[in-house]
Amino acid sequence: MQTEIVKMTAENAEEVAARAKVIWQKGGLVAFPTETVYGLGGNGLDAAAAQKIYAAKGRPSDNPLILHIADRSQLLSLTTQIDSRAQALMDAFWPGPLTMIFPKAEAVPYETTGGLDTVAVRMPSHPLAMELLRIAGIPVAAPSANRSGRPSPTSAAHVIEDMDQAIDMIIDGGDVGIGVESTIIDLTGEKPVLLRPGFITPEMMEAVLGPIETDAAVYRKMEKGEQPKAPGMKYRHYAPKASMTLISGEFETVISYINEKTESMHQSGKRVGVLATEESKARYHADEILSVGPAASLESVAHNLFRVLREFDEKNVDVIYSETFPESGYGYAVMNRLLKAAGHQVIHL
Ligand code: TXA
Ligand code: MG
Repeated sequence: MQTEIVKMTAENAEEVAARAKVIWQKGGLVAFPTETVYGLGGNGLDAAAAQKIYAAKGRPSDNPLILHIADRSQLLSLTTQIDSRAQALMDAFWPGPLTMIFPKAEAVPYETTGGLDTVAVRMPSHPLAMELLRIAGIPVAAPSANRSGRPSPTSAAHVIEDMDQAIDMIIDGGDVGIGVESTIIDLTGEKPVLLRPGFITPEMMEAVLGPIETDAAVYRKMEKGEQPKAPGMKYRHYAPKASMTLISGEFETVISYINEKTESMHQSGKRVGVLATEESKARYHADEILSVGPAASLESVAHNLFRVLREFDEKNVDVIYSETFPESGYGYAVMNRLLKAAGHQVIHL
């Protein structure tokens, strides 16, 4: 399939959105920027479009999609229940990087929800995404626009790497701002449950809702037979090709340990990568040292993380050692993605 690649700016937004709308109406797929990562969009009410999304991503079809809307009134046809908790979260964080899980209305096909009776919905704040959704007038189902298992795309170039020739159109709206996917909170039970950490932190939501719970899959590997509430959390994700291990401990101890490991890897002819920070990058002796930005700015680390994981794939390293980050606030989202990229291999020093 020929993929049309189109640059979108504030100036041509309406015209590009009109073209995307036609593709969505015909059941086709358009990748577009959001404030978190690029999404791979199809008509969220069209079962066949959902199946095309799974095929383009190489994604198992039991992994449900998030519906993107431009206006709160659209929510009324997607769910049977909008309670006071949802209202409060919408007031505080929409439009923005927060996805809520609701009981699904009949109009939403099971193909979109991976067979579940619940549906994930978010209203993105990226101005180009908002314009696309406003003009399309339909809920757009959009997972991250990467091939399944690859890091989520934070630039149009990443989408082109993974999706060229597989979808109808890729909209290039420049690099995304946040760089990790939206926070997901499940509101279908008695207590709100965090299913995926993101830019909207647990602390921010607790300030609105009171205490929330966290699904076990957020911070540890699922045992055999255990089911995470967000089906996507069970798959190996974000993973670079090389085997990656996180090294956790005091700054100097981590650096010495990684340098010792590098030496022994070199003796067995292996090429070593290190995921470092601005503060530490000059201290390593590895073959490829990629910085995710200043450790002091978790915003920068989150913003650069998926790009750096993709870059390691081009560097031909055999192993990657990575530093770790504080597990609180926004660091929670960063560590969740790093742990998944490393298949939960962590050495605590
Ligand atoms: O920031 C984002 O959320 C991006 C952009 C494009 O909006 N989208 C994204 O979608 O990250 P995706 O498909 O890569 O991740 C969706 C996650 C998966 O882990 C999936 O299992 C979970 O949301 N999810 C979707 N519907 C759900 C449901 N009804 N119940 C529980 N988890 C659900
Ligand atoms: Mg994804």
